[in-house]
Amino acid sequence: MVYRESLVVEKIKTLIFGAGGMLGRELCNVFPDAIKLKHRDIDIRNRKMVLKTIEMEKPDVVINAAAYTSVDECEDHQELAFDVNGIAPGYIAEGCSNTGAKLIHYSSDYIFDGSKKEYIESDLPNPINIYGSSKLMGEKNVIQNTNNYRIIRTSWLFGAHGVNFVDTMMKLKEQKETVKVVNDQFGKPTYAYDLARKTVEIVGLVPDIYHITNEGVCSWFEFASAIIDNVTPCKSEEFVRKAKRPTYSVLVNTKTTPMRHWKDALAEYLNKRKTMMGYL
Ligand SMILES: NC(=O)c1ccc[n+]([C@@H]2O[C@H](COP(=O)([O-])OP(=O)(O)OC[C@H]3O[C@@H](n4cnc5c(N)ncnc54)[C@H](OP(=O)(O)O)[C@@H]3O)[C@@H](O)[C@H]2O)c1
Repeated sequence: MVYRESLVVEKIKTLIFGAGGMLGRELCNVFPDAIKLKHRDIDIRNRKMVLKTIEMEKPDVVINAAAYTSVDECEDHQELAFDVNGIAPGYIAEGCSNTGAKLIHYSSDYIFDGSKKEYIESDLPNPINIYGSSKLMGEKNVIQNTNNYRIIRTSWLFGAHGVNFVDTMMKLKEQKETVKVVNDQFGKPTYAYDLARKTVEIVGLVPDIYHITNEGVCSWFEFASAIIDNVTPCKSEEFVRKAKRPTYSVLVNTKTTPMRHWKDALAEYLNKRKTMMGYL
């Protein structure tokens, strides 16, 4: 379904950076008339190009879904991570400030250290990996460069159009007798399709930081168990990865209406996925 009911979507001029990513492609469906810029069209690290593009197009709303999202790779490519996730959002915010556009920018649960069980929007960030640090820098640069921002922190995104946990599990199901998944990291899975639709509502809210996820908390093991049946729990120590992950990265939304439970969203995605792959 293309989400076109909202008057907001039809009347505003929107420009999307990162239009080729998992969330970006869902945003393109929700904002069908938007100017859609993929990585190959513009590198957001190029300040001159970013400012020129926003100045030329004069959009009412700019949505930044571009990011360097490979959490482990960020450990080895720190400069790139900070350039894309930290510094470039400041250029986009500067462009928005110059022209009076609203900026929607996405950030991450990984700006928190996981020492608390839940995080509301005003909790103090303390990232424990490079990706999280770079995303936090991005938030700060957005806030420093424009007053007209809405920062949406989200977590554990899944959906069509990207490398994500659901698809990885489906592949592993075929390749392995049992798939080991960590049972000691907790968060809120979020369907990119739901987040894109919710973004329409956030555009109409006051400048602020928002925590937007599907409802329901689970471990990666519990998430995996809802996708495939040959899964077995393990501890993080058994599954060492380059970047440290927070034990709890549960974002609590205190500012807007909640989205549906992740299990309902997952069921819809799995159904759609079957249809897309021609199983039905
Ligand atoms: N995925 C998650 O689980 C998750 C969780 C929390 C928050 N978020 C945040 O949600 C937002 C959307 O994430 P996503 O999962 O949709 O990410 P994604 O699928 O990795 O998409 C990001 C897009 O940004 C593009 N990009 C990378 N560097 C760029 C640059 N220098 N200039 C222009 N474009 C560039 C990428 O292009 P290439 O592929 O060609 O590099 C890709 O198309 C991001 O802000 C992310 O930090 C994601």
